[in-house]
Amino acid sequence: MITIKNDAEISLMRESCRIAKETLDFVGKKIRAGMTTKEVDELVYRYITSCGATPSELGYEGYPASSCVSVNEVVVHGIPSDRVILDGDIVSVDIVAEKNGYHGDAARTFLIGEVSEEKKKLVKVTEECFFKAIEGLKAGVPLYDIGYAVQTHAESHGYGVVRALTGHGIGRFMHEDPAVPNYGRKGTGMRLRSGMTICIEPMINMGTYKVNMDQSGDGWTVVTADGKPAAHYENTVLITESGVEILTL
Ligand code: MF3
Ligand code: CO
Repeated sequence: MITIKNDAEISLMRESCRIAKETLDFVGKKIRAGMTTKEVDELVYRYITSCGATPSELGYEGYPASSCVSVNEVVVHGIPSDRVILDGDIVSVDIVAEKNGYHGDAARTFLIGEVSEEKKKLVKVTEECFFKAIEGLKAGVPLYDIGYAVQTHAESHGYGVVRALTGHGIGRFMHEDPAVPNYGRKGTGMRLRSGMTICIEPMINMGTYKVNMDQSGDGWTVVTADGKPAAHYENTVLITESGVEILTL
């Protein structure tokens, strides 16, 4: 079900999204080589709960942690573990904070130490994909224009756009309709409406767009099919009559 948020709901969304953003800023200051992904998760748990909020991912469909910490070839949903973060890694951290019944969802890919030019470019282009997607976005624009913009930009650099997972609506639930694919045909899909809150989250692979959902055996960790690195960047945005408001920036 697609939900349209009223002003009261939008201010609650703003609050949860602000916490999500600040959590990632906090993680960005602390994350470094030598830490385990579990230690990153502890930072996330500590920050979110210190804001009087709840990490929505913890226990979601049995998910065992407060964050997804995805290193290099892990695209998304990396379960925090004893994996040690190394100099040269790219690490995506995806978190959701809930306060007063509303969720805010965001992800960043952090560069650890001396990262190769190739990986730096992947992370930069992935962020650019998000900003291309919100260019001109407002009420009345067809939904799949988002995916069209992401795909066009990523593929112009020879990258693969993950299709097996999408962005999504968000509000009282972490995942609401509509699904927001990162690929698509311009001018197609439902028209966006003012008061919709959606997560736009390009997941971009350096090589093939294909991913493997079962390889890890934990039921969550998604890896690239070719083992090459992937990047992820996500914000929760509010659609308005005149444009978008990025709630997690
Ligand atoms: N935050 C993710 C998203 O962008 C969802 C994570 S799934 C979970 O949709 F199980 F980790 F919660
Ligand atoms: Co997310």
